Amino acid sequence: ANPSLLILPGDGIGPEVMAEVKRVIGWLGEKRGLAFDVSEDAVGGAAYEKYGVPLDDSTMAKAQAVDAVLLGAVGGPKYDTLDFALKPERGLLRLRKEMDLYANLRPAQCFDALADFSSLKRDVVAGLDILIVRELTSGVYFGEPRGIFTEGGERVGINTQRYTESQIERVARSAFELARKRAKKVTSVEKANVMESGILWREVVTRIRDAEYPDIELGHMYADNCAMQLVRAPKQFDVILTDNLFGDILSDCAAMLTGSLGMLPSASLGAPMANGRPKAMYEPVHGSAPDIAGQGKANPIATILSFAMALRYSYDLGDEATRIETAIEKVLADGVRTADLMGPEGGTPVTTSGMGDAILAALDAS
Ligand code: NAI
Ligand code: MG
Repeated sequence: ANPSLLILPGDGIGPEVMAEVKRVIGWLGEKRGLAFDVSEDAVGGAAYEKYGVPLDDSTMAKAQAVDAVLLGAVGGPKYDTLDFALKPERGLLRLRKEMDLYANLRPAQCFDALADFSSLKRDVVAGLDILIVRELTSGVYFGEPRGIFTEGGERVGINTQRYTESQIERVARSAFELARKRAKKVTSVEKANVMESGILWREVVTRIRDAEYPDIELGHMYADNCAMQLVRAPKQFDVILTDNLFGDILSDCAAMLTGSLGMLPSASLGAPMANGRPKAMYEPVHGSAPDIAGQGKANPIATILSFAMALRYSYDLGDEATRIETAIEKVLADGVRTADLMGPEGGTPVTTSGMGDAILAALDAS
């Protein structure tokens, strides 16, 4: 059977950027003989319109059955007044929760042509290619006890950082598997100097490496130092493995090393399926951008790069992923720019589909 993909375009610019991904998928079929079983359904506000809920049970079942899900974005002012349970983001959260996507991947890759968009100096970021693997379903955002309690006549707000060995093991395996497809280097980040969960984290990650991934180079770093190193010399990293809280902060920090929101892909991975590959959902980091929706202004690159991640991590088509990334790099080097990428040096302004045209032309020439 062909590899399967469920496309959930969602709201706002979601369908606009997804249209360009569909052209890339069509190109792979036509020019590379790679056929995918693509199905499409609604999520978020679009699902509310179609089914009366932000994610229908039938869509959830499809998501569980396919090799990978590719999502655009959800949300918009139109849906802000809906009841909590009907809000678009509930659809996204349901997917993440029921697919048990515990490893969130945020690459920070700096394309040379955009190095001046970075918050840092060009030579610090040019050629940067790092991947942050953040534990997504446990840790301090979920640990019990949590709440605001009254204690000794005043209130106290409590959250609990909590990690079991198996929660650490599974995300560590995700990171080591990913490192095998990259530069084979993992930096595990915690605060073992002041946190018990950090001591356990370091011990478990080291044990998994020694037993199962002796080919991977493993280093450990305290989270505060990691924040400093990301800004000082980010190219020292390949894969950064960290918990939910530190990963939230470090991945936003890393995102600004590379520039526009319209360029940032992500993936969320769960347990290996019968075919050995992880359960997976891919999506751009950006939202539905209602301020530019329907105007042909959206940059489709974040979503196309998310699909490239799917090629690499869900379909074992790393060479095709690289082909797409190289085509994007070429288009950017040629000065082709959606509005969000237009800097003081200028360039050729294009619409969403104009960027798609340029990427397809670069693929044709590859
Ligand atoms: P946003 O990411 O949608 O937009 C922030 C800014 O970046 C806007 O000025 C937008 O025009 C621009 N931008 C975003 N993506 C772009 C692209 N591909 N090309 C060019 N410019 C782009 O975040 P915002 O404005 O906070 O949220 C808007 C809606 O999206 C809300 O309903 C929010 O809940 C939802 N949202 C959904 C997410 C998701 O589906 N994963 C993530 C973040 C927000
Ligand atoms: Mg955040």
